[in-house]
Amino acid sequence: MRRKIIIDTDPGQDDAVAILLALASDELELLGITCVAGNVPLSLTAKNARIVCELANRPEIRVFAGCNAPIKRKLVTAEHVHGKTGLDGITLPDPAMPLQDQHAVDFLIETLMREPSGTVTLCPIGPLTNIATAMQRAPEIISRIEQIVLMGGAYFEVGNITPTAEFNIYVDPEAAKIVFDSGAPLVVMPLDVTHKALTTRARVETFRAMPGKVGPAVASWTDFFERFDKEKYGSEGAPLHDPCTIAYLIKPELFSGREINVEIETGSELTLGMTVADWWRVTKRPANALFIGDIDAEGFFALLAERIARL
Ligand code: BDR
Ligand code: CA
Repeated sequence: MRRKIIIDTDPGQDDAVAILLALASDELELLGITCVAGNVPLSLTAKNARIVCELANRPEIRVFAGCNAPIKRKLVTAEHVHGKTGLDGITLPDPAMPLQDQHAVDFLIETLMREPSGTVTLCPIGPLTNIATAMQRAPEIISRIEQIVLMGGAYFEVGNITPTAEFNIYVDPEAAKIVFDSGAPLVVMPLDVTHKALTTRARVETFRAMPGKVGPAVASWTDFFERFDKEKYGSEGAPLHDPCTIAYLIKPELFSGREINVEIETGSELTLGMTVADWWRVTKRPANALFIGDIDAEGFFALLAERIARL
């Protein structure tokens, strides 16, 4: 049976690759894509998600717009990484497929209440505003979620948008706190993992050499957002963050981690959005997440190339 998922996203080039990986994978049934403000404002993320579906020739996928700002803070965006459109790197046609009328939060609640309990997995790869808002509005959905596999946070890598916070958690720390405290089964892909999934030259050229439009588009996006991280970290390529979540659903054996307690800092101005991960189990706080620490990067890129080539 195919695993039912909803991707909650703020595309974003790496979000786009995550969506493509899901669309290319028979193991997964994508019930819908819910968009949130993050890398760029909501109007652009909702447009970009549809551009990606059309690139993959899947205009029937339902795309929903959700929250346009964090629960109680001003939106912080990341055009400095992703460009003005959020999907800079290649010019693709404006989408012809419609945006759904329903609000993403209503879609999340309705779907979780309709599908049998424990059969829908959420894959948040942007700020957690939509997911937390759905949990606040309808707490009865929480026990019905099969799993939440999210990209966000860091422990050993500490932060990327501030010295101590990763972007997705930093943008809406109150939302992250609601999700991490919810009791829903969590799998977390922090920077500790995604910084090992680097787009080296050979990996990017594999995508560029693929026939059709999709592989070369992935290569162009990567070329664009790499420049920022390569300069910042002096690394060979850029971390391909968000597709790690989808790869985990397809091949969990590529990843390893620990069941630990993770708390979100919402009070301190200095360390706002920090994921305080008890990796060494120095507290008695109960585990609330499988916090991933390692990845078989070769296996991950082999999977990604094999799947993207199908599109
Ligand atoms: C996360 O922030 C965004 O810029 C990326 O799309 C990813 O979800 C990495 O910190
Ligand atoms: Ca993202």
